[in-house]
Amino acid sequence: MGSEVVDYQEQVEAVREAFEREFGRFARFRGGQGAEGLTLAEAETLLRELGDVRTRHTSRKSALAGLMKLIGRVPAEERAAFGQAVQKLNHEIAETLDTAQAGLGDYIAALKTERERVDVTLPGRRPRRGHLHPVSIVRQRLEDIFVSMGYAVEDGPEVENDFYNFAALNIPELHPARSPQDTFYTTDGLALRSQTSTVQIHAMQKRRPPLRVIAPGRVFRRDTPDATHNPMFFQLEGLLVDRGIHMGHLKGTVTEFLRRLFGSDIRTRFRPSFFPFTEPSAEFDFTCFKCGGVGCRLCKGSGWIELGGSGMVHPSVLRAVEIDPDEYSGFAFGFGIDRMCGLLYELDDIRLLFENDVRFLEQFD
Ligand code: DAH
Repeated sequence: MGSEVVDYQEQVEAVREAFEREFGRFARFRGGQGAEGLTLAEAETLLRELGDVRTRHTSRKSALAGLMKLIGRVPAEERAAFGQAVQKLNHEIAETLDTAQAGLGDYIAALKTERERVDVTLPGRRPRRGHLHPVSIVRQRLEDIFVSMGYAVEDGPEVENDFYNFAALNIPELHPARSPQDTFYTTDGLALRSQTSTVQIHAMQKRRPPLRVIAPGRVFRRDTPDATHNPMFFQLEGLLVDRGIHMGHLKGTVTEFLRRLFGSDIRTRFRPSFFPFTEPSAEFDFTCFKCGGVGCRLCKGSGWIELGGSGMVHPSVLRAVEIDPDEYSGFAFGFGIDRMCGLLYELDDIRLLFENDVRFLEQFD
């Protein structure tokens, strides 16, 4: 220091000015306010830069730290005043930085809270749930009824050979009964099944009597599509084989099934018919569930709805699977699931079920 006259107070002022110069751009945050209107990114940048200012002006290598070190070396008579001035400046700088930093920090925290706010009162977005196809809905209802009556649900192949589709069902080659059941053939004697009656044969071979099965499934015919026909449709087949089974069991079973489906006041009637695999054979009708049998648009004024075919299993069919017709007898019935679906939902055109137009399908939840 030598002979130089040092104005210590001036040195304190110089450090203060240097700080104020740099802090100038943060001056508006001095009172802990002033951040309003800043974006989150701007506020975060300013906070970081303010941190840099703090480092430059308060770290161990800062001018302020230099002043502190100087206190001990100041002549005794000036030391107290100088020391106080330095401490005051130190205190002022720290406080100025703290308030500005706290103000910016609070502002940033508030912005983040606002950004992450969740309005728990907003209605949720309802997920679009799918549902079963109407044919499946009806198939499951039918299955439930038959299962509750002690029937097992049997599955069978959709591609069959001549034995299962025709021969075992008592429909010999060249027999005219083949033509209404004409189907799609492949080259090696296989064909798409034209009726679920094929499952009768599989079921009897597999389970042996006594047995009670239903077989819902897809069938195929060489039909031109119209409002009541489609080359692919669904049937449900029923078969019961046991000792002493007669036509009364068939009528009771079909009637009970229809009552469980439509209500206990349903009546049924059986009309003589012909099917190669049953003898005697009958088609069955039931009183219209819409008008109760008085006559309406659904039953075309007749009061009756035709549903399917049925009969006592033909002895030749039992013999084809080596069941003795003198020991066992059985009944069988079959009807269209899509036809049932069309009745239940009052569809004008069965083809709607197979076009897969969701605007149609989603109405059957
Ligand atoms: N399979 C026949 C059809 O497609 C319906 C049928 C009639 C099934 C009589 C039967 C039956 O089991 O006994 O037209």
